[in-house]
Amino acid sequence: MTIPSEVADRSLAPEGRTRIEWADQHMRVLQRIRERFSKQKPLEGVRIAACLHVTTETANLMRTLAAGGAEVSLCASNPLSTQDATAAALVEEYGISVHAVRGIDAEGYYRHIDAALDTRPMITMDDGCDLVTRLHQRRRDRLADVIGGTEETTTGVIRLRAMQAAGVLAYPVVAINDADTKHLFDNRYGTGQSAIDGILRATNVLLAGRTVVVCGYGMCGRGVAARARGMGADVVVTEVDPTRALEAAMDGYRVMTASEAATQGDLFITVTGDKHVLRAEHFELMKDGAILANAGHFDIEIDLQALGALASAPPRRVRPEVDEYVLAPDRRVYVVGEGRLVNLAAAEGHPASVMDMSFADQALVIEWLVAHAGELERQVYPVPRDIDRQVARLKLETMGVRIDELTPEQQAYLEQWEQGT
Ligand code: ADE
Repeated sequence: MTIPSEVADRSLAPEGRTRIEWADQHMRVLQRIRERFSKQKPLEGVRIAACLHVTTETANLMRTLAAGGAEVSLCASNPLSTQDATAAALVEEYGISVHAVRGIDAEGYYRHIDAALDTRPMITMDDGCDLVTRLHQRRRDRLADVIGGTEETTTGVIRLRAMQAAGVLAYPVVAINDADTKHLFDNRYGTGQSAIDGILRATNVLLAGRTVVVCGYGMCGRGVAARARGMGADVVVTEVDPTRALEAAMDGYRVMTASEAATQGDLFITVTGDKHVLRAEHFELMKDGAILANAGHFDIEIDLQALGALASAPPRRVRPEVDEYVLAPDRRVYVVGEGRLVNLAAAEGHPASVMDMSFADQALVIEWLVAHAGELERQVYPVPRDIDRQVARLKLETMGVRIDELTPEQQAYLEQWEQGT
């Protein structure tokens, strides 16, 4: 049987397989879940449409769902994040349907999402909410079979909550992002490391002694700031939220407005989830040689149209993934990865050992959604607490870390109110 698919080059499959196996060695929690799934088959006959970054880590999640009996169809959640070898291996080596080609245009991107929706999914998996939005706006014919969904990232959860508030969300969706074992690790340590990794692979600049401006101090921003500081940068944070700004100040960073920071920064990294965080008024103040990168989900944080309008000529590609904008004869600004999320555009995304936890959450939540089909409301749900804690325990076990348990006396103390001073 031929597997419905559209990938760049099937001959890349052997390379993709080796890479998927490499990632799998660092995904021990997911491995254990896969072993259990292949025996118990909790997803037998469940059709899943997954719109995720097509990486080696995602490949191992797809293998896990397929081992549980699911029929999976994967498409990309970003046109620049697809690893073509991984896509080829999923089709050729693991028999999983994939529609994803790195660098695809917007028309092709949505054609691939439509192909995943054509499989009449019972479960949707999304990273940024593009598949769910397509389903609700253009493909309502495919809503009937859907029992639930998952959303991987902060941006997607924000969009889903807006859908719920507007009364249009048609089925329950679990916010994977909000699990402790997701955002405290993937967002902080994953984005922290992989965003810097992408910028360094693309530019090879030295961070030590440079001023790095981190726009946004959510979990991802905290990770990026910490890693930039760890490499010797002088880190400036910009924020709009007073509590987060205060936290950044007390974490020891210089906090200022984006306009103040614009005059000082050598490297700017946006991680806010909002649009036009860096715009014309900031570009006009930037130093010659300033480098701009985005680590937020969508390519809206840096106003590239405004930058293009300020430049005297179209952008010039000076290195793979680096474009030069000439703003004046003596002032050039560089953009990494076309302003798309830099960790996936210019590197390989988060390392496997941190995706292990996020994707363990995904696999266990899908099992939970199938077990609770028909019992849930049309709303955004948190990851059940016991799944979150189970993933933390499994991760510790695979790391060989043991922790204490409360004694019966301590447990009883925590459950009473009478004893005080
Ligand atoms: N998001 C960030 N990093 C990722 C990765 N390695 N795989 C899938 N999704 C990701």
